[in-house]
Amino acid sequence: VMLSCSLRMCHVFMLVLHLSKSEDFNWAKNDHGSFYYGTFPAGFSWGVGSSAYQTEGAWDRDGKGMSIWDVFSHRQGKVQHNETGDSSCDGYYKVKDDIALMKELKLSHYRFSISWPRILPTGIKSNHVNEKGIKYYDDLINVLLENKMTPIVTLYHWDLPQTLQEKFGGWQNISMIGYFSDFAGLCFERFGNRVKHWITFSHPWSVAVEGYETGKHAPGMQMKGSGAYRAAHHIIKAHARVWHMYDSQWRSKQKGIVGISLTADWGEPVDILDQKDVEAAERYVQFSLGWFASPIFNGDYPQVMKDFITKKSAQQGLTTSRLPTFSSQEKSYIKGTSDFLGIGHFTTRYVTQKNIPAINSPSFYSDRDLAELVDPQWPDPGSEWLYAVPWGFRRLLNFVKTQYGNPMIYVTENGVSEKAMCTELCDKWRIQYYKEYINELLKAIKDGVNVRSYTAWSLLDKFEWEDGYSERFGLYYVDFRNKNKPRYPKASVQYYKKIISSNGFPNQREVDSWMRKAMETCSSSNQLLAAEEQRTTAANILRLIHDPLASHMEMVTEIVVPTVCTLCILLSAVFLMFLLRRHN
Ligand SMILES: *[C@@H]1O[C@H](CO)[C@@H](O)[C@H](O)[C@H]1NC(C)=O
Ligand SMILES: *[C@@H]1O[C@H](CO)[C@@H](O)[C@H](O)[C@H]1NC(C)=O
Repeated sequence: VMLSCSLRMCHVFMLVLHLSKSEDFNWAKNDHGSFYYGTFPAGFSWGVGSSAYQTEGAWDRDGKGMSIWDVFSHRQGKVQHNETGDSSCDGYYKVKDDIALMKELKLSHYRFSISWPRILPTGIKSNHVNEKGIKYYDDLINVLLENKMTPIVTLYHWDLPQTLQEKFGGWQNISMIGYFSDFAGLCFERFGNRVKHWITFSHPWSVAVEGYETGKHAPGMQMKGSGAYRAAHHIIKAHARVWHMYDSQWRSKQKGIVGISLTADWGEPVDILDQKDVEAAERYVQFSLGWFASPIFNGDYPQVMKDFITKKSAQQGLTTSRLPTFSSQEKSYIKGTSDFLGIGHFTTRYVTQKNIPAINSPSFYSDRDLAELVDPQWPDPGSEWLYAVPWGFRRLLNFVKTQYGNPMIYVTENGVSEKAMCTELCDKWRIQYYKEYINELLKAIKDGVNVRSYTAWSLLDKFEWEDGYSERFGLYYVDFRNKNKPRYPKASVQYYKKIISSNGFPNQREVDSWMRKAMETCSSSNQLLAAEEQRTTAANILRLIHDPLASHMEMVTEIVVPTVCTLCILLSAVFLMFLLRRHN
């Protein structure tokens, strides 16, 4: 355990060295106000989230069909270490255990997604309904309700049935709209007597761009400059179709609400006095959040997207824009089809204007004419892309308020990861992240933004798409090397629990005591985990003796890498001492 933790120390050390180089950076310029003590409106809903492919496992059990993620992750070289979601957290078998964890937090809601191919193995309703899949979600919903937690259910969290990909090309094909609304209708029919909160799509930007532009996600297509726009066009229409279906066929009986969940970074101009930067930063947000929110709330794609993609398409010799258009009938059909707006948010970028000529190679990224930057002082505890910039959250929420007519907002995803090498349950950095981001959310509510709920992302460590299990977002640590997949609370569980039970941050004295208490409890969990890991490692060494070749890679990561890092720390220390002595 100590060895694997040295990797983290190594990382922190590099960061410190990195920071000392940029002394001239003015931190005060970026001080966005102090901590705000206060509580959330009465009835504010606290929850945690997950998604089917990331947590369920049981990828080929009880009649489930294959999804594009099953196929994609089984292709070598697509996911880090060629890992898959085949078993993941085994959430499929652990409904009761996981709901007990939620109960411990005293949550009011749980956000999860339904795996389309688990209940419709080919994706097509008229082919076959898998009753065993239906039963799994029935049980999950029932146990949640028995424990007084509201299910918030996502219909599409990226696991398209593989058959629909093979036969039709997935979201490139307009026929997905019909198949998706059949699937949604089945869910309303079977679960809608108990589920009152529906999310059609989770983070469709990622489905479009990473699925059909960069190919980093399933189905792995690289149709640069057009695939993402076409996928998004069909997704927006499918969302609207499902909302209308609910509105006309189910709402009067079931009395629920239907929305969409959009995940977006905040974009802050590098130079707020430079109009070009200000416009570039707005473009950054319009090309992510606005792409979907603007048709749904305002009736069409953002003007700046239409202008830029039309201009670039013309430069590329195309006679029509690569961005599809909605007919006026479609515009009015799509406008107003979200009873609430789900917002996922993790990080922020500085943005500056940058002309990106792309005469022969159209792409989503070059259409935006901008460059993204990060401040090296921003904390970066886990994923490469995830810098903790709490004030960006408040700005994004205020942007939503002004652009889309102050809609009712559910925060559907917010959280931070850590590097997997470090099995450390005392996750001070996550506590800090949640504390500050939730505080900015509170400030946004004081600004008049209409936020009704908050969902921490995520309940468990889980399969992180192309990053496999190398990044951990959980409040609970999952030991994936143990076949029972035991869960251990990180310190952030205790801290989040305090925020929930106080419905915010009552006063400084009390809030200060939470961190101390959270850190006390995690050390005993750490010991438990360490003991268990030693047992697992011993078992692995035994396996090593019997099967030296297969475990060679594991040896490298478990022993050689930490050793190199320890050396790196020692060398840096010597170097620092040398510098200090010279300075004296
Ligand atoms: C993953 O698969 C690729 C392609 O077959 C292979 O080159 C690579 O070594 C594999 N990685 C691991 C960690 O097994
Ligand atoms: C959509 O699917 C149909 C049926 O397979 C096919 O004929 C058509 O070419 C597809 N369209 C696209 C854009 O892939």
